[in-house]
Amino acid sequence: MSKTSIGLSGNVLSYYQAHAYNEPAILAELRTETTAKLGGNAAMQIAPEQGAFMGIIAGAMNARAILEIGTFTGYSSLAMALGSEAHIHAADVSEEWTAIARRYWTKAGVADRITLSLAGGNAVIEDLLGKGRAGSFDICFIDADKSGYDAYYEGALKLLRPGGLVMIDNVLWDGDVADPEKRDADTLALKALNDKIKARP
Ligand SMILES: C[S@@+](CC[C@H](N)C(=O)[O-])C[C@H]1O[C@@H](n2cnc3c(N)ncnc32)[C@H](O)[C@@H]1O
Repeated sequence: MSKTSIGLSGNVLSYYQAHAYNEPAILAELRTETTAKLGGNAAMQIAPEQGAFMGIIAGAMNARAILEIGTFTGYSSLAMALGSEAHIHAADVSEEWTAIARRYWTKAGVADRITLSLAGGNAVIEDLLGKGRAGSFDICFIDADKSGYDAYYEGALKLLRPGGLVMIDNVLWDGDVADPEKRDADTLALKALNDKIKARP
């Protein structure tokens, strides 16, 4: 089963998962393969209910261009590709993990709508800005190294069109952001970004 959510009882989560979405078979297969092949690292994959939500958002916005920073084995990119007609620019530093993503994009028939950059998020943002893509993305999804989130957020603000959407994974960090005792680098980076976003008018 997928990860539990903060403050949601097991019963309610099960009910929600049973009623809120129908996971496409190709996404279920990707989830199963990621768990089987990558063990503990599979926890990095987004939950199926999150994928369903993101696909709905992308479709409802009629998104045409999406930037994803942190692709892993491709679940979130595939969920958004299946939910919309958008072209997705995906960025990740792992050739090994994204090889699985590429295979599933092909199998799902959406590979022609996903461009993968094997590079760090900052380099990809700079490259897109250099190519005149400022203001041209509908959605930017951030799900990579937490120390990079602040720069990815600032980059996303430049790349998004007016009314575009930034989606950021892990903002609650399993509840750690609300715990004053948690002062590791990742938690502090997420706390700082949450504070910064809250302070924006
Ligand atoms: C939490 S996983 C992404 C999960 C993915 N969104 C999904 O749906 O399965 C984080 C990914 O960020 C990648 N990553 C780490 N540092 C990065 C960086 N500097 N730039 C881009 N990606 C990075 C990792 O290789 C990893 O695949």
